[in-house]
Amino acid sequence: MGRKRLALGSLLLQPALAAQPAAADDTGLAPVDPVSTGAEGIADTYFLILGFAAFIFLLVTGSLLLFVARYRSRGRPRDVEGPQIIGHTRLELAWTALPVLILAVVAGFVFYKLGGIDDPAPAAGATADELEIAVDGHRFYWQFEYPNGVITLDRLRVPAGRVVDLEITATKSDVVHSWWIPALGGKKDAVPGETNHLKFRATRTGTYEGQCAEFCGVQHAAMGASMEVLSEDDFESWLSAEASAQGAGRSVLGQETYAAACSKCHGLAGEGLVGPPIAGNSVLRDREGLEEIVRNGRGEMPAIGPQWDDRQIDALFRYVGRELGQPADQAGGES
Ligand code: CUA
Repeated sequence: MGRKRLALGSLLLQPALAAQPAAADDTGLAPVDPVSTGAEGIADTYFLILGFAAFIFLLVTGSLLLFVARYRSRGRPRDVEGPQIIGHTRLELAWTALPVLILAVVAGFVFYKLGGIDDPAPAAGATADELEIAVDGHRFYWQFEYPNGVITLDRLRVPAGRVVDLEITATKSDVVHSWWIPALGGKKDAVPGETNHLKFRATRTGTYEGQCAEFCGVQHAAMGASMEVLSEDDFESWLSAEASAQGAGRSVLGQETYAAACSKCHGLAGEGLVGPPIAGNSVLRDREGLEEIVRNGRGEMPAIGPQWDDRQIDALFRYVGRELGQPADQAGGES
C-alpha cells in the first residue's frame, strides 16, 4: 500500500520535475538574478525577509520539538494534570518586543531601499538624461516607441547604465495588461487611458524574458515580451540605423508587426490557429481593406492596431503581401 502511494506520488510529481530543466535560470527559492538596480533592491528585501522567516520557522519548530520531547507524559495517568505554569514576565516581554523590532527593521530597510527602486541614479559615465520609452499593452502584444519615433514590438531594447523611464499604458479600447520582466523586478499594470511609470537602470547586457501578467483574453499566454540590454554604443547605433530603415520602409517593422500582432491568432504562415487561416486571403492584397480590419476589428477579432500610423500599416501590408498574399492556387506552385 505504502509503495503504491509512493509510486502514485512520483507519477504526479513527474510533470513538475520534467518542467524544471526548461526554466533556464532556475534559482530555486530565490528570485531570478536581477539585472536592474531596482530589482537588486527588491531581491535584497526578499532575502532579508526570508532570513527572518527562516529564523522564526526554526525557533517555532525547534521549541515545538523540544517541548514535545521534554514534557511528554512519561506514563502519567490521563486524568492527572501536568505542571501548571502561570506567567513569565521577561519571556512575555521578549516575545512582544522581538516581533516589533523585526517589523521595524523590515520597514526601515524597505524605506532605505525604496528610493533606489523607484528612482534609480544613472551609472557613472553613462548619459545622465533619462530615456523615455512608451509601452503600449495590446491584445496580445507589446508595442514600444522610442523618442526618435522608432517602433518595435514584443522586444524592448535598452542601453545598460542609463536610466530608462517606461511610460506604460494600454489603448482606450483595449483591456488591462501587466508589464513584467522578472529580471527587472516588479510588475506594472498597463491600464487603458492611464500611464504608469517604471524607472530602471539595467546593469548587465543580455536578453531577458517576460510575460503579460494580467489575464487579458484568449491569447494571454502568448503575450510574452523580452528585453535586450545593449551597451550604450550598440544601443545608439541600433536606434539610429533602425530610424533610417523605418523611414525608408525597408525595416523589419512589417515582419515584427505580423509576428507580434497577427501570428499569435492566425499562425506564422497564416495557416490559422485560434483565428481563421488568412494565407492567400484577398484582403492581404487590399491596402484599404487591411487597414479597415486592423483598425476596427471584425467579428471576434479585436481592433489590433487602432493606434498604428501609416508607416506601420504600410510595412505590414508589404510584408503580408510578399509572404502570404498569393492566392491559394498560385502559392502551391512554388518549391
Ligand atoms: Cu495581456 Cu495578458
